[in-house]
Amino acid sequence: MIIAVIFGEKSMSLNTIEENQRNHQIADGEEVWLFGYGSLIYLVDFPYLESRPSSITGWSRRFWQGSHDHRGTERNPGRVVTLIEQPNEICHGVAYKVESSVFKQLDVREKNGYLRLDIDMAFGDGTSAQGLVYIATADNEAYLGEASEHEIAMQICNAEGPSGPNDEYLIELARSLRQMGVEDPHIFEIERHIVSIKREL
Ligand code: SIN
Repeated sequence: MIIAVIFGEKSMSLNTIEENQRNHQIADGEEVWLFGYGSLIYLVDFPYLESRPSSITGWSRRFWQGSHDHRGTERNPGRVVTLIEQPNEICHGVAYKVESSVFKQLDVREKNGYLRLDIDMAFGDGTSAQGLVYIATADNEAYLGEASEHEIAMQICNAEGPSGPNDEYLIELARSLRQMGVEDPHIFEIERHIVSIKREL
């Protein structure tokens, strides 16, 4: 796996647009594979040339990143997914081939702590490609870190931001993973907690 991004200072700015554009330049006209593992799976509001089910090895999807700009606010952050390094684990998602110009839009969408990282992704037919993924590492200011699935579900049920309620993010992600035939115990357990919390309301 090739890690070419420079993560910068320990406490990076909450807005990663400039950092991504400074540290991870993409040549004009280049076509790039982008691996999506969170909202990029189900909310595809950007143009792409091709999409394929895909997976990356050595990473797990976790609801450990805070969201101030989409699914929560600064005073009451929601939780969204990031990737945690875990040897041999496989994270399934969707790969999109996009033109370099699309990253201008994607960097704005992912500005709350996500940096572009070079990654190798595998496709179902046994082929692979090098591309990019947005990852929010533990040193970003919005990072919330580990919590039990029940605690995460409680926080998600109580958060809402400009893009809508936080539980919608989780429910849409769980629905898409199920549709793709992907088993993700962390996501499905949070979903179970959310269903029972809402039942009790
Ligand atoms: C992704 O979906 O790949 C990144 C995280 C997000 O935007 O939800």
